[in-house]
Amino acid sequence: MRVELVVNGEQREADVWPGESLLFALRERLGLPGSKNACEQGECGSCSVLLDGALVCSCLVLAAQADGHEVVTVEGLARERELHPVQQAFVEAGAVQCGFCTPGLVVATVDLLRRSPAPSDDEIREALSGNLCRCTGYQKIFDAVRLAAERT
Ligand code: FES
Ligand code: FES
Repeated sequence: MRVELVVNGEQREADVWPGESLLFALRERLGLPGSKNACEQGECGSCSVLLDGALVCSCLVLAAQADGHEVVTVEGLARERELHPVQQAFVEAGAVQCGFCTPGLVVATVDLLRRSPAPSDDEIREALSGNLCRCTGYQKIFDAVRLAAERT
């Protein structure tokens, strides 16, 4: 089946099979490998994207469900070769180690700061609770979120 959707502000279309995930379609059909595939079960958050402005695990959404909708991936955050302030904060705070979790955490942080520009520690914990990181111990991720909140 053919789906048409807006991805990172561009009208895109792709031929997908009915059971195919949005994550697969983004990575394998639309050439956007930024959203990562770590569990494909909604457990790790590495595939997080915004679907019509709502944070979702793209591994749990069918590509067919995104037909006619708007998706923003981590690739859609930077502007004209300039990192998004959240991406910049992650780099500066040392919150990126292997980087596998980073795209999902960045998208989740963008979502958080849009809803709550000055989040409390509990709000940060809650907002990022669906994103697993095996490397950082989370402290530097917290530092990055606070830094991004100060700047945005
Ligand atoms: S790959 Fe989607 S939540 Fe892990
Ligand atoms: S930086 Fe490696 S999993 Fe988070």
